[in-house]
Amino acid sequence: MGTTITKTKPKNKKSPGQNDKLQRISVSNVNNATLDSESETEAKAVKTNMKKSMKKLAPNKKSAGAEKLAAKIKNKTARIGIVGLGYVGLPLAVEFAERGFTVTGFDISKPKVKLINAGKSDIDDISSDRVKAMVKAGRLKATDDAKLVGKVDTVSICVPTPLSKTKDPDISYILAAVKWVRDYMHKDMLIVLESTTYPGTTDEIILPRLEESGYKVGKDFYLAFSPERIDPGNQSFTTLNTPRIVGGVTPHCTKIAKLFYEQIISGVHPVSSTQSAEMVKLLENTFRSVNIGLVNEVALMCDRLGLNVWEIIDAAATKPFGFMPFYPGPGLGGHCIPIDPHYLSWKLKSLNYYARFIELAGDVNTSMPEYVVSRIARMLNNFSKSLKNSRILILGVAYKRNIQDVRESPALDVIKLLEDAGVKIVYNDPYVPEITWNDTRHRSTKLNKAMAQKADCCVILTDHTDYDYQWVVDNSKAIFDTRNATAKVKKGRSKISLL
Ligand SMILES: NC(=O)c1ccc[n+]([C@@H]2O[C@H](COP(=O)([O-])OP(=O)(O)OC[C@H]3O[C@@H](n4cnc5c(N)ncnc54)[C@H](O)[C@@H]3O)[C@@H](O)[C@H]2O)c1
Repeated sequence: MGTTITKTKPKNKKSPGQNDKLQRISVSNVNNATLDSESETEAKAVKTNMKKSMKKLAPNKKSAGAEKLAAKIKNKTARIGIVGLGYVGLPLAVEFAERGFTVTGFDISKPKVKLINAGKSDIDDISSDRVKAMVKAGRLKATDDAKLVGKVDTVSICVPTPLSKTKDPDISYILAAVKWVRDYMHKDMLIVLESTTYPGTTDEIILPRLEESGYKVGKDFYLAFSPERIDPGNQSFTTLNTPRIVGGVTPHCTKIAKLFYEQIISGVHPVSSTQSAEMVKLLENTFRSVNIGLVNEVALMCDRLGLNVWEIIDAAATKPFGFMPFYPGPGLGGHCIPIDPHYLSWKLKSLNYYARFIELAGDVNTSMPEYVVSRIARMLNNFSKSLKNSRILILGVAYKRNIQDVRESPALDVIKLLEDAGVKIVYNDPYVPEITWNDTRHRSTKLNKAMAQKADCCVILTDHTDYDYQWVVDNSKAIFDTRNATAKVKKGRSKISLL
């Protein structure tokens, strides 16, 4: 019996939990007592006592660590670690800090660490004031020192999951983050992966790496997947009021992960496994990608039929059941919708299954920038102008309205195609003061009458609400509107071409 316990001793160099130590001490004492005993009766009594004490220890051993961690989470003394302080990680860190927890944010980017410790935010939805207040209160600190993982009780991994050049999942950021955790983890920790990834990543890739530490999941540490569903720029739904999905490697893992998120989020929905939780996120984003693909194709159909796709969607949306409006646009953008469905189709390919809807939606959505350019060419042609040597004013380069994020923005594809066709481009975006395309840094031009009137046409690629669209129409020769941003414009509608 003594050996059973000794066997569970983690191989890790770091000191195991105190409980574990106490258990080993008490067992060795009992063994010594057995050896020293001269009387058989005495030996029997000691053995019986030993059995009794082991019975007591065994169930506690399984749950004591979990209970200790649960208590710390409940009384807010659990020290929270967030790895990756981007669009997902920083809001999470700030929310936990504002709830009274002490949070350490880990990031490999030194400028990011410096920025946060200086009380500043580079994320649209989190104001610098909120970051500053938490840093000042000593409840939020950023670091690039992996050793400090040894000082936290929970770790939420929120690092990027992009695609490689060949459109395969690139989980190298997850692997690097997991290595940090494995090297410095201690007993009784909760580790949650939040980065979007394919089903199987947590169990097949992360778990074996973490267990290299010598700690066992469900006993020495708790591992779960919980997808972040944040929608940057969404004022109605934030980290706090968007329900959470959690799926643990073991039921204990799910329970602790659920308790953890319940400290800041009211609706936490557990599922049966990490794979299910991973799949939930991919279903959600594939649903969006496929529906946007469908509506983009409907836009192409309406163009051929001479119909206004926006009018048709708005009319269909009056149906109170069985229809949900999605809108066409210049293509997909951001870190989720253009990427996540490919994680799923890649996984399915390895199982000899071709994910038809995902691939088809991907084809339609990625063809939209070319379609937009063909429509701009058609519009200029009506004024006997060609793309070559024309001057175009682009309004909005962020991938969606009222945010600064330009990752995967379709505006960059449209601009590149226009420049390749010989167009002189100027752009304005109140959220994006600078941007690089075709290897050159460009600055947002000040929007004034002279520059609007000088352009052969204005192309609206992002429908930021800051613009006065009537002003834009009044001061432009022609407008190509990919977002129906000019819907409320009354005067000069003949100048507008809608996607
Ligand atoms: N942005 C969104 O709207 C959104 C929404 C839901 C889910 N997600 C998913 O969440 C994950 C994170 O996305 P994001 O938008 O926050 O990314 P991001 O690029 O905004 O931030 C990631 C941060 O992680 C840091 N980082 C990278 N590798 C690291 C490492 N090994 N250790 C520590 N820090 C590291 C980066 O420096 C960066 O600050 C992705 O899987 C994404 O698909 C994103």
